[in-house]
Amino acid sequence: MNAGIHGVGRYVPEQVLTNYDLEKRMDTSDEWIRTRTGIEERRIAPDDIDTSHMAERAARIALDNAGVSGEDVDLIIVATVTPDQPFPSVSCQLQERLGATKAAAMDLSAACSGFMYGIVTASQFIQTGAYRHILVIGVEKLSKITNWEDRNTAVLFGDGAGAVVMGPVSEGKGILSYDLGSDGSGGKHLYQEGDLLYMNGREVFKFAVRQMGESCVNVIDKAGLTKDDIDFLVPHQANIRIMNAARERLNLSEEKMSKTIKKYGNTSAASIGISLAEEVEAGKIKDGDHIVLVGFGGGLTWGAICLKWGK
Ligand code: ACO
Repeated sequence: MNAGIHGVGRYVPEQVLTNYDLEKRMDTSDEWIRTRTGIEERRIAPDDIDTSHMAERAARIALDNAGVSGEDVDLIIVATVTPDQPFPSVSCQLQERLGATKAAAMDLSAACSGFMYGIVTASQFIQTGAYRHILVIGVEKLSKITNWEDRNTAVLFGDGAGAVVMGPVSEGKGILSYDLGSDGSGGKHLYQEGDLLYMNGREVFKFAVRQMGESCVNVIDKAGLTKDDIDFLVPHQANIRIMNAARERLNLSEEKMSKTIKKYGNTSAASIGISLAEEVEAGKIKDGDHIVLVGFGGGLTWGAICLKWGK
């Protein structure tokens, strides 16, 4: 049984925090942020919207889009490093709110690569025939672990959620290959201590440029395709320069890569799901297209997936 994506959904909070707003709060500039990262603004969730609320909104849209009801869901996987609390998990909170009475539920922690790990995990259950409908959600409320005194990191992150409903698809469609990996020795470059996030930007940058390109090439090879076969790239939205390095490695033109970073910043586990939903809505990803999703993040971790779009 091939596993693929039946529906997509996304949610971002209404409140916009622009680079100009940040200029008033810290020693930075719109020009620095835009040219170094590609970010112009990001969304920040208010106190009464926590991670599970954003996840629920994206999940409902994805279920609608797939024509699947909560009762039909067999498994809920939520990728996040900013759950409402350590337990109960966000996925269990959703299980109740969505009326997913028969669903198993678990959260998964692989930082910005979490959505890739979630999709690959879900696909195993579908391929074996064990489950038919799986909800995978990448969601973060990074604003609650952002150190607003540290300009090196505060300008980068935003809040949001992206979701997909996965299920069986016809032969030749769906997930063709994947590549997951980790390197715990790099954990010291990106971590949370106490309530705050710390990052060695330069080290993460070097790792990301190398690993995103490698993983993309890897999944294209494993799928038995060549770079020329790829129609669209949805990379983790961490930094436009990192994303462009991956795009150039695949010889793709600018219009063939998702660039939601400008509006949302880095939303960690949510960024690929949000971007995927936007590009599908905008008609940039169409039935039969070969697409590559690729992410990297804390851990260090990475993940890429090559798939043929459609049911
Ligand atoms: N405004 C103005 N100046 C700044 C700012 C800011 N917001 N932030 C840093 N600077 C300064 C630095 O202090 C430094 O000054 P110095 O030379 O006097 O010391 C100067 O700008 C240059 O700093 P660099 O670190 O060389 O800047 P760089 O071009 O590497 O860009 C950045 C920094 C954007 C953080 C980059 O390294 C990056 O994107 N790294 C990857 C980060 C990433 O992707 N993280 C996400 C991981 S995913 C996850 O799991 C959450």
